[in-house]
Amino acid sequence: MPAISAKVPGKTILFGEHAVVYGYPAIAVPINSIHLKTTIIPLPGKSHEEIKFVDTNSGKELLLNDLNQGHTFKAALRTIQEGLSVNHFPSMEIRISSSIPSSAGLGSSAALAVALSRSVSSFLGFKLSEEKINQFAYEIEKHQHGTPSGIDNTVITYNQPVYYIKGRPPQFIQISNSFTLLIADSGLRTPTRDTVQYVRQSYERNRTEVEGILNQIGDISQKALTAMQGKDICTIGALMSSNHALLEKLGVSNEKLNNLVTAAQNSGAYGAKLCGGGRGGNIIAVVPPEAAESLKDELLNAGAVNCFVSTVYSNREGVKK
Ligand code: PMV
Repeated sequence: MPAISAKVPGKTILFGEHAVVYGYPAIAVPINSIHLKTTIIPLPGKSHEEIKFVDTNSGKELLLNDLNQGHTFKAALRTIQEGLSVNHFPSMEIRISSSIPSSAGLGSSAALAVALSRSVSSFLGFKLSEEKINQFAYEIEKHQHGTPSGIDNTVITYNQPVYYIKGRPPQFIQISNSFTLLIADSGLRTPTRDTVQYVRQSYERNRTEVEGILNQIGDISQKALTAMQGKDICTIGALMSSNHALLEKLGVSNEKLNNLVTAAQNSGAYGAKLCGGGRGGNIIAVVPPEAAESLKDELLNAGAVNCFVSTVYSNREGVKK
């Protein structure tokens, strides 16, 4: 068995996080300047089944047998094993390298789920469809996050901008013009599970008001789809800022994220918002390409611990209705 690798991008949610959990549309794009790669290397000659995980960033090694049942790696392999209906795995080393920061709203857990599903199944000789890989990754994400909408694993599996409604086939978006994003890290971290749970509790307590906010976010995603298919960068930016205001109303922003969003808006961005679960992680700003470097400095001055530029390119396929 030769070594097998899978390399997948990070992602960001341009519009609609949280609302997507309740069936409203959302838009996500792959971020190809960061990625996660898994490489499976056979370990022949082992007398018993040995599965070793190596984090090539830290050099840390873990044996599958030493992990508790709830560990992400163990849950992921169990899901893949059940999905493929194989009795056991051959001995193998699974090397993981990643430039996607973890718990930062940029898709690190979904990227791991997709890359493992793709590389392990391929290592075992299975040629799975993208749809199947996406399904496996979604199951793995459920172990991690409880009730994920599925948008993260979908955008990463297909590596295309996607208009997503939970439970429906993804619609791939034909973006007319590529555009430039600045992605700035607040340095704070709150697990997505916590903010999703917080929104759920507010929803149970105050359904009419929260539903009103989620509905407005859904409308924004719909309008953003049209703006992205046209060449309407100013509208994309304005919709992003409106989306941020609604996420703040929902209670998933915080002072640091608001400061970064305001700094971007005041320094020439078309618009900005938090992305992902919120209360930490990154903000995204859509910016004029020629202003990206100076805006980056503004955001670092405003307290971002890291900031990078990424281009969202148009994809090959049109929107599949
Ligand atoms: O924090 P992230 O990047 O995993 O994004 C979470 C997006 C939510 O809409 C809040 C949850 C979900 O499952 O879609």
